[in-house]
Amino acid sequence: MNLEVIILAAGEGTRMKSKLLKVLHPICGKTLVEHVIDAADIAGCTKKIVVIGSKREQLEERLAHLELTYVHQAERLGTGHAVMVCDQEIREDQDVLILCGDTPLIEGEALKHFVMHHKESGNACTVMTALLDNPFGYGRMVRDKENALIGIVEQKDASPEIQAIKEINSGVYCFQGGLLKKYLRQLTNDNSQGEYYLTDLVKIMSQAGHSVGTQVIENFDSLLGVNSREQLAQAEAIMQAAINKRHMSEGVTLIDPKNTYIEKTVSISRDTVIYPGTILKGHTEIGEDCIIGPNARITDCKIGNGTEVKDSTLLESTIGDDTSVGPYAYVRPGSQIGNHVKVGDFVEVKNATIGNGTKISHLTYVGDGDVGENCNLGCGVVFVNYDGKNKARSIVEDNAFVGCNVNLVSPVKIGKNAYVAAGSTITMDVPEDALGIAREKQRNIDGWVIRKGRK
Ligand code: UD1
Ligand code: CA
Repeated sequence: MNLEVIILAAGEGTRMKSKLLKVLHPICGKTLVEHVIDAADIAGCTKKIVVIGSKREQLEERLAHLELTYVHQAERLGTGHAVMVCDQEIREDQDVLILCGDTPLIEGEALKHFVMHHKESGNACTVMTALLDNPFGYGRMVRDKENALIGIVEQKDASPEIQAIKEINSGVYCFQGGLLKKYLRQLTNDNSQGEYYLTDLVKIMSQAGHSVGTQVIENFDSLLGVNSREQLAQAEAIMQAAINKRHMSEGVTLIDPKNTYIEKTVSISRDTVIYPGTILKGHTEIGEDCIIGPNARITDCKIGNGTEVKDSTLLESTIGDDTSVGPYAYVRPGSQIGNHVKVGDFVEVKNATIGNGTKISHLTYVGDGDVGENCNLGCGVVFVNYDGKNKARSIVEDNAFVGCNVNLVSPVKIGKNAYVAAGSTITMDVPEDALGIAREKQRNIDGWVIRKGRK
């Protein structure tokens, strides 16, 4: 299928009162315009043209990972003008879908049906419309006695009779490319706003004898445009509710969906339970039978099956099966934690591997380390990984036991099955099967308190 899309995004977004371009504000983990681009992809668009105005560098930078064609509209002379500046990019033998960059809830599947309807009908132009109880502000679809569409009239140009029409223009169109190019040249700015209205093409094309049709969309929520922070929050709440509903329908329990924030890109398998206050971001994947939260913040992590994460932050790491993390653990980027591991309260792990069956129950920092299988790190173990200039790594081999309050001054290696006595500051390797002890021997001074007169 050959289909181009033009996404109109040259608006200033003044009402957002923001340094950031309006269409770059994020909801549910992606910018507004990326949600629109996603929908266009689902609809089968092969070429994506984005019309940009001010702050074009911001847009180009933020969307650098996408294959887009940018067209600059230097002056905002109306929606018709915004499409006119794309003239060179429009192919005569293709259909062109037109969308707005600030309607993030537009659904890909609905667009796909809309485009199919356009193609099957053989229309020169098809407009997506909706029936609204309160149509104020929108362009109205004007029909003749035979109910054929003859034009779209903007609110500001509408007589009271036309204002009573409840069928509105959603701002989503599909055009036959060749005819779009031909009739764009006939647009004028002869109206109350002095703008080139794209909507005037409906009248021009129907008067020229071309068939112009509509498709009514039921889910009007999906057309919500974001112009203010309030609408940004509204759009986010609607999208979040839809994402949460999808996870629940796929077998995930959300204890309190209204208080659970899951980005669009996250996947969760069956019978996992998500407790309130949880934020799941980026390319996070969570397996089956996990218990996540309350208050877990997880970004770009892969978590196995049967794992529990309570009140903790996990970033860019992988966690195996049947592992327990938290409460109050901090797993920082580059960590790989195995199966049946315990990463307990106030444990920080950074750029480290933790082997299967290892227990790190409390108050420990594992930074730049490789800990083997079935090890035990006692309370208060610190990987001393930074000398003020350089970082170094330490290794704790399988079955080693590191007692409480031990400093491992990196780089050091604790051999297989070795023990490290509590309170040791380890600066040399401890061989396999050995006990490493590095602390002053205790001595008791009898009667010291009495002699000092402190009793
Ligand atoms: C437009 C339609 C109206 C429809 C409504 C649906 C016209 C004349 N009217 O009105 O019939 O009911 O959308 O939401 O088209 N833009 C540019 N360059 C410009 C002007 C606009 O890129 O010069 C972009 C805006 O950034 C925005 C989109 O086009 O994304 C729509 O423009 P806007 O001014 O919001 O049109 P409306 O008055 O809402
Ligand atoms: Ca608008």
